[in-house]
Amino acid sequence: MSDHVCQKCIDPNCGATFSVDEVLTACPKCGNLLDISYEWDKLPVPKSLKEVEKYWAMRDVPQRFSGVWKFHDLLPFADLEKCVTVGEGQTILQNSRGVAKYTGMNEGNLFLQYEGMNPSGSFKDNGMCAATTHASMVGATRAACASTGNTSASLALYCSCLHTMKAVIFIGDGKIAYGKLSQALDYGAQTLQIHGDFDDAMARVKEVSKKLGIYLVNSVNPFRLEGQKTIMFRVLEALRWNVPDWIVVPGGNLGNSSSFGKAFHELYELGLIDRIPRLAVINAAGADTLFRVFNEEKIRWNGGNTDRAKINAFFKQMNDEGRRANTIASAIEINRPVNLEKCLRALEWCNGVVRKVSDQQILDAKSQVGACGFGCEPASAASVAGTKLLREEGVIAPTDRVVCILTGHQLKDPTATVAYHCGDPKKFDEVLRPHGVTTCAFANNPIKVENDVDDIVRAIEG
Ligand code: F0G
Repeated sequence: MSDHVCQKCIDPNCGATFSVDEVLTACPKCGNLLDISYEWDKLPVPKSLKEVEKYWAMRDVPQRFSGVWKFHDLLPFADLEKCVTVGEGQTILQNSRGVAKYTGMNEGNLFLQYEGMNPSGSFKDNGMCAATTHASMVGATRAACASTGNTSASLALYCSCLHTMKAVIFIGDGKIAYGKLSQALDYGAQTLQIHGDFDDAMARVKEVSKKLGIYLVNSVNPFRLEGQKTIMFRVLEALRWNVPDWIVVPGGNLGNSSSFGKAFHELYELGLIDRIPRLAVINAAGADTLFRVFNEEKIRWNGGNTDRAKINAFFKQMNDEGRRANTIASAIEINRPVNLEKCLRALEWCNGVVRKVSDQQILDAKSQVGACGFGCEPASAASVAGTKLLREEGVIAPTDRVVCILTGHQLKDPTATVAYHCGDPKKFDEVLRPHGVTTCAFANNPIKVENDVDDIVRAIEG
């Protein structure tokens, strides 16, 4: 299906287009990022989002069961039958009373979107099914990514299910949570531990995949971001097609925020929604490039006329100072987000804001998600910590309807969780203190007790 769809440079001053049969991760003319662009007037677009509900009764068709491909009409770059699926996108929007209270929202107005419920335990599967669909279309036999852990787990899972493609993953040495590393190894991916951090691994994977002709699935891959649009479609579905006031999302490589912006922009242009929610992107304080670029350098998308010289100067200074990302939220420990410009565009489209939160705020917020719901990994909790901050600032009103995206499963990073709750000073010093965490205010300490019934009863009854 290459009719009425193409790859298009995001820079309106370039606007070059390319066939979807080509394998590209940047515009060959100007080097900027690419979008997947559709001629919607020539495609069968649904008249209302409610039309999707007809697929609820078709769960025996794998692509209709998929929480991504049931929205195929809104990302129609491949024939439906050829779309790869492992059952991704069966995720839940929870109205959380406890987290509403913690963040200062009115009861009923705070929602948690659990993307950790995907097959590999993170939101990445939404994009990976789309990227591997395109990789299959072009006959790729190997696919690669650099990763802080979740992209690699997702790619490894899809390759282990597909059998037609081998996964090659690049991770920063010692920079990955154990749950994620164990997935890549168990799924049989070729796993390269690069001596460096994510930003190094990202630079190397780009070079190596070009050299060896390996298909790259990092979020510079525009097909991946098409799949991630469906997270927003499912949020709308869960809200019975009502638009919330705020989407709050952690920011790392900025793929999610970029794809959310595109999702809402397209839905609005197609007349399928009548307003666009505001977007809040939350950085970890130790990996705050977007925060600095947006709030301090005041760089904007500006209709496509971004001040690139200013961005380049920013990164040059970062290099000169030897600045490296450092946060306990290892998933977002990134200083050179590859989707920076696309995210600036999303912030413009969605009247967005950017905030940063400390590792202390992240871990406290994470404990609340665990105590009041299904739990999440540290990076995901940046969305809850960011909501609390924006409430305190009065930017978000208690009566607003807020959706926090919980990007990864609680079990991805047990080290941080156990160190927070276990009350062991040694673990605290090893795992938390180096990240500036000073207290575990919401710790649920395990109770040490003798192997004796009376002692156990006393411990339980307090
Ligand atoms: N949350 C989690 C759990 C992640 O794994 C990531 C990114 C993000 C948030 C940030 O999302 O990049 O779209 O802004 N993880 C990548 C990886 C970088 O390699 O798994 P983003």
